[in-house]
Amino acid sequence: MYQNVTTNLLNLALSLSDALDLGNAKLFQRQIRSAFVAWQLGRAACLAPEPLRDLFIAALFHELGAVSPDEKLALYMGQAQNLEVHCVRGERLLQTVPIFEPCASIVRNHHRSWRDWSGPIENQLVLQSQILFLADTLERFINRDQYILHQHEELISRVSSLSDNKIHPLVIDLLKYVGRREDFWLDITSPRLYSLLLHSAPCRGTEVELGQLIIISEFVRNLIDFRSKFTVTHSAGVSTAASMIASLFGLTELEAELMNVAGNLHDLGKVAIPNSILEKNSKLTDEEFAVMRQHTYVTYMVLSSIGGIQQITEWAAYHHERLDGSGYPFHLTSKKLGIGSRIISVADIFTALAEDRPYRQGMNKNDAMSILNDQGKKRFLDINIIELLKANYDQIHALTSEAQEKAMNTYLQIY
Ligand SMILES: [Fe+2]
Ligand SMILES: [Fe+2]
Ligand SMILES: [Fe+2]
Repeated sequence: MYQNVTTNLLNLALSLSDALDLGNAKLFQRQIRSAFVAWQLGRAACLAPEPLRDLFIAALFHELGAVSPDEKLALYMGQAQNLEVHCVRGERLLQTVPIFEPCASIVRNHHRSWRDWSGPIENQLVLQSQILFLADTLERFINRDQYILHQHEELISRVSSLSDNKIHPLVIDLLKYVGRREDFWLDITSPRLYSLLLHSAPCRGTEVELGQLIIISEFVRNLIDFRSKFTVTHSAGVSTAASMIASLFGLTELEAELMNVAGNLHDLGKVAIPNSILEKNSKLTDEEFAVMRQHTYVTYMVLSSIGGIQQITEWAAYHHERLDGSGYPFHLTSKKLGIGSRIISVADIFTALAEDRPYRQGMNKNDAMSILNDQGKKRFLDINIIELLKANYDQIHALTSEAQEKAMNTYLQIY
C-alpha cells in the first residue's frame, strides 16, 4: 500500500481542463486550445517562467465559472447575457487552491477591455489578462469544420478588428508574430495537441503532494456538485462518510485520506451530463439513464489519464459496481472490488438517501438503513460495511452533516 502519493501538476491540469469541456462536442478541448495560444503569445511577449505558467494554467481553466454545458456553450457562441458572472465565480473557485491563486485574477479579467485598465499593457496582470482575452476570442472564431490554413488570415483580421477598444494593439501584434508560422495554426487544431502540451508545456516538472491533492479534489468536487442545488453537498458527504468508515474498518490513516480524495472525485464524470438529466424531478427514462451511466466511465478515464493515483481512480470510479456483477460500467464482481470501492459504494448510497432530491425528501435513519440492508442481502453491497455503518450511524451522520454544512457555506460564498 502507499507510503505517499504524488502526481504531476501538468498532467492533472490538462486532464481536468479536458474533462470540463466534455459536456458538448462543440466545446471539445476548447480550454486546452486557448491555453496553447496563450502560452505561445506569452512566450513571444517574453514573460518570465512563473507568470507564463500562471497564464497557461489560467487559460486551461478560464471558463470554469460557467458551471453547466449550456452556460459554456452560450459563452462559446457569444450569446451569454452577462460575462461578469463566470469571471467572478472562476476567480473565487481558483482562490480556494493555493497553487492556483495567482491564476485567479487573470481569469477574473479575461473579458476586460484594455481601455478599462488604468495600468499600461506592460503591467504583468494587464498583459496576462489581455493575452487570455485574445486566446479565448481566437479559439471561438475558429471554424472547426474548415481547414485551419484556409482561414488563418481571416482569423487574424477578425481579431485585429477588436483593437479599437477590446484587445490592445501590442497583443494583436503578438498574434501576428506567432501567426506567421504554419505550425502554430496546425498545432492549435491538431488531434495531438493534448500530448504535445503534455511533453512541452510549462509546469511539467511540478509535482503535487497529497496535501495539495486533497485541496484540489475539494476544488473539483465543488465544480461538479455546485452545478445543481440538489447536489451542492453530495460529494462532501460521501468523502467524509467514506473516510470515516475506512478508519472504523481499520484502514490506515493514509488510506482514509485517499478515500477522502476518492469520495470528492467519485462523481467527476457528471461533468459530461446535462443539467436537464441531473435535475430531472421524476424518474429517468431508459435513454436518460443510459446517458447518466457514462459518468463513472468518465470518472475512470479522466483520473486514470492523470497517472500516479490508480488506487484513488478505482475507488472513485467503481462506486456503481455491485458485488454480484450487475453494476456499471465495468460489471466487476466481488473478486475485483476491493474494500475501498465497497466503502465508497455504501457511503454514496448512504449520503444520497439522506439528501433531498428533486423527486423526494431526504430519508430518516430507519428508512435509509432498510434500503441499505436490502441491497446488502441482494449482494449488491458489502453487508459487513453496512453493519459497521449501522453500528456507528449517528456518529457518521453527525460528521457527514457537518462537512455538508461547510460545503453549503462555500457554495453560498461563491455563487
Ligand atoms: Fe470567458
Ligand atoms: Fe455516481
Ligand atoms: Fe454520488
